[in-house]
Amino acid sequence: MEQANLFGAPPSPTKHFLQFRDFSREEFAYLFERTHWIKEKFKRYEFYQPLRDRTLAMVFEKASTRTRVSFEAGMYQLGGSVIHLTTGDSQLGRAEPIEDTARVISRMVDVVMIRTYEQTKIERFASHSRVPVINGLTNEFHPCQVLADIYTFIEMRGPIQGRTIAWIGDTNNMCYTWLEAARLLDFKLNVSAPPGYRLDADRAGRASPGHYEEFADPMHAARGADLVTTDVWTSMGFEAENEPRRIAFADWCVDEDMMQAARAQALFMHCLPAHRGEEVTHGVMEGPHSVVWDEAENRLHVQKALLEYLVIGRVRA
Ligand code: CP
Ligand code: NVA
Repeated sequence: MEQANLFGAPPSPTKHFLQFRDFSREEFAYLFERTHWIKEKFKRYEFYQPLRDRTLAMVFEKASTRTRVSFEAGMYQLGGSVIHLTTGDSQLGRAEPIEDTARVISRMVDVVMIRTYEQTKIERFASHSRVPVINGLTNEFHPCQVLADIYTFIEMRGPIQGRTIAWIGDTNNMCYTWLEAARLLDFKLNVSAPPGYRLDADRAGRASPGHYEEFADPMHAARGADLVTTDVWTSMGFEAENEPRRIAFADWCVDEDMMQAARAQALFMHCLPAHRGEEVTHGVMEGPHSVVWDEAENRLHVQKALLEYLVIGRVRA
């Protein structure tokens, strides 16, 4: 099995995971299958090191706990190594053009993960990179997180196709990634955000026509949902808006009543870090619907499958 990996070929031309729609439905099905296999093997404490001698460079321009630990641990577990760069300790913070950085780094490593601000920045990097680039969060998208969330849903509740997911709160990078996923994997996203923070119709329509519906009242969005999910009211990079957001989002807190409105078997997810008492109550975080810790763990497993696919290609089981 492992031997077969060595003869795999990475997708050609070089494939990146910059936003959810970069992969097809069939590629997601493959990734979820691989995730299951890799996770099971890991749980049995069996070595699986197809990325020996391969290197991942991680660039963080924003803070991180889960993304850093899951990519770093995952790459080591696959037999590879990791280089961690931040704006402060590299030339990135001293105005070297992103295109130049991409050309240099991608001659030295096998795959790059970037967490940054504008999506255009990661796109510019990818267009000058010889190796796959993975979006570890931008202002616009967080595809690795939604990959883990959907894997977690499927693992616990079966196929996501035809299901209803309720997004309560800020229409941020997570929300727009869910919208792309809804279109690709054919489920419905109920979105509820306060006035002034609703979806940009152009962007949302382009992302997933027919696969979402907006609700003024968050209780209505949650009604009958198979999964209720939310995120912080203020994302990284928008801290100056903290106070007005705190006021505007006060009624967009996922609480026990909202979970009651969802289906009895509904799951609750949050990409974390969570602010208990703001976007979610302590009771929901720790309650029977919550799967936030499994969701966080699955970042590790889905990203190992993603790294395997981008670096060595499909593995023949
Ligand atoms: N959910 C997530 O991406 O967490 P970090 O910001 O800790 O990486
Ligand atoms: N929307 C949040 C997600 C953090 C993982 C942010 O961008 O800060």
